Amino acid sequence: MNINRKPIFAANWKMNKGASETEDFVKSFLSKTQGQSFSCEIVIAPPFVSLPKLADLLHTAATGKNAHAIQIAAQNCSQFDSGAYTGEISVLMLREFFVHYVILGHSERRAIYGETDAIINAKMKKAREANLKPIFCIGETLAERESGKLESVLRTQITEGLKDLTDKDMAETVIAYEPVWAIGTGVTATSQQAQDAHAFVRSVIAELYGADTAGRIRIQYGGSVKPGNAAELMACPDIDGALIGGAALEPQSFFEIIVNGSAE
Ligand code: 13P
Repeated sequence: MNINRKPIFAANWKMNKGASETEDFVKSFLSKTQGQSFSCEIVIAPPFVSLPKLADLLHTAATGKNAHAIQIAAQNCSQFDSGAYTGEISVLMLREFFVHYVILGHSERRAIYGETDAIINAKMKKAREANLKPIFCIGETLAERESGKLESVLRTQITEGLKDLTDKDMAETVIAYEPVWAIGTGVTATSQQAQDAHAFVRSVIAELYGADTAGRIRIQYGGSVKPGNAAELMACPDIDGALIGGAALEPQSFFEIIVNGSAE
């Protein structure tokens, strides 16, 4: 953590929680955050169909002045504006539900749905056209790490995925380093492995966009983050928050990660 960058803790619910479970989670979570102030940003990324419910609950809570401001993220978006793209969701549709962030390039989208760096780049540009803030995910597989390709894999994902994005776009982008072997496995990168990767990612951003942008961009760690390891990971100088899957499905553990990870 670096005091010049506000840490960002984001729950990626993946394909979990429809509208009624979203309601249960938010009510419980808000009862924990009530009256507290955090020096970090909190984001929830539910499935698309739960976005209206989440927007509604957070809006009601905010007007009741009992909620820490929580931002809404989508888990994906289309690279196209509108038209014959069955099953897809456009950036403008997301804007209607007060979505501010969009997760792009998640390893599950890359591996299961065949999203290439070029597709992810097109989505990044489309997201920025609608003024959405991308949470741009990158990370290596175990085989890539073990064969010494960590840096080349990350470098390619960064240069191809961010191609043609401007300095202004980068000011609104968050990067999430998620080693594929640590996602949903219970195996967390050691804080040294995570810090080394984050420092490398920041150095590539410095090469592409200059030291200023690199010093400002937030880089989250993702992969089996839990209440018990959040503090150690967040103590690393180049780690600026977390993107959390499994442990963000329970209000208590998401809350504890935020508390433990944002303590100064
Ligand atoms: P887990 O926290 O379940 O390992 O998932 C991480 C992740 O993929 C968040 O995007």
